[in-house]
Amino acid sequence: MTLRIGIIGAGIMGADHARIFTEEVPGTVLQVICDADQKRAAAVADSTGALHVVSDPLAVINDAAVDAVVIAAPDQFHAPLTLACIAASKPVLCEKPLSQDSKECLAVLAAEEKSGRHTVQIGFMRRFDPSYAEIKSMLARGDLGKALMFHCFHRNVAPAYDFRPEMAICNSAPHEFDVARWMLGSDFKSISVFRPPSGGETAPVFMVLETVAGHLVNIEVNISATYGYDVRGELVGEKGTAFLRAPVKADVNLGLQQFNTYPADWRPRFVDAYRQQNSAWVKSINTGKPNLGASAWDGYCSTAVAEAGVEALHSGKTVAVTQIAKPNFYL
Ligand SMILES: NC(=O)c1ccc[n+]([C@@H]2O[C@H](COP(=O)([O-])OP(=O)(O)OC[C@H]3O[C@@H](n4cnc5c(N)ncnc54)[C@H](O)[C@@H]3O)[C@@H](O)[C@H]2O)c1
Repeated sequence: MTLRIGIIGAGIMGADHARIFTEEVPGTVLQVICDADQKRAAAVADSTGALHVVSDPLAVINDAAVDAVVIAAPDQFHAPLTLACIAASKPVLCEKPLSQDSKECLAVLAAEEKSGRHTVQIGFMRRFDPSYAEIKSMLARGDLGKALMFHCFHRNVAPAYDFRPEMAICNSAPHEFDVARWMLGSDFKSISVFRPPSGGETAPVFMVLETVAGHLVNIEVNISATYGYDVRGELVGEKGTAFLRAPVKADVNLGLQQFNTYPADWRPRFVDAYRQQNSAWVKSINTGKPNLGASAWDGYCSTAVAEAGVEALHSGKTVAVTQIAKPNFYL
């Protein structure tokens, strides 16, 4: 069986999804690539062999020749296009975040529940990253004892957008909100946000969160780290700690030094995670069985944390995270 995929948004992520399906996920065909900028869509179609190019996202979602949809357009289009996918009964892999507005997330939850079918997966691909998965397995086996704290670092070379600290919380940190929730098995209770006063306009955003179960999580989002794309993490348990290990291709010995290199962005760091996420998504659609991926509910939860984080940034206070009770549909 061949799954016919439509991709909406042919920028950095849309192009990478197209490459992954073409090169690394058997049993898929790229039926259509859509971008508001048709030249971008055409360039991605040329390099991947996608069959058609359009500029209207609804033409993708409502195309009878498209079985499943990837949304990789900017954040503000995620929830409306996800709602259109639910209305058309099309499985959708929506890039993170589901929305920057929890009310929009709630509308997606309501529509998905009303449809009676789980059609939405959110692109929180870190759940599929071998280094996070290894630490989660260690916790499940009890190797580290009870989890106590999770230190997270998320560093980019330079801002990919006009930097505002709110974006670090609403667009970048949702990856950490989701993976920490998944790793620790608990929702968040509160968040405080700090920035070094000496850091200038693009100063890192530093968050301290408490989970309902009583773990502490700290997250540094440093969008202007300059030296490389670098995601780190250390899980602190009662009996020991575990660090995430980024893929290292070679240790270089040169000029009285030993070193390895950093990627310029997230794609090489999470190459395995993206591939495994997309493969698992296709397998789920074909088999009807769920995978590790984040649901619309998980998307809502990380947006609820981000909203509390923005309030904490503005008020300088610790802010409680408020969420609706989890609907039975997502249990
Ligand atoms: N999972 C991850 O690790 C990860 C990493 C980076 C970005 N993202 C998410 O992926 C999304 C895309 O990010 P990007 O870095 O590829 O951005 P980008 O700017 O490179 O690409 C976005 C593309 O969408 C197109 N577009 C804009 N409006 C559109 C519309 N209405 N219909 C169709 N196309 C439209 C733009 O022309 C552009 O080509 C963002 O929501 C971002 O948060 C996820």
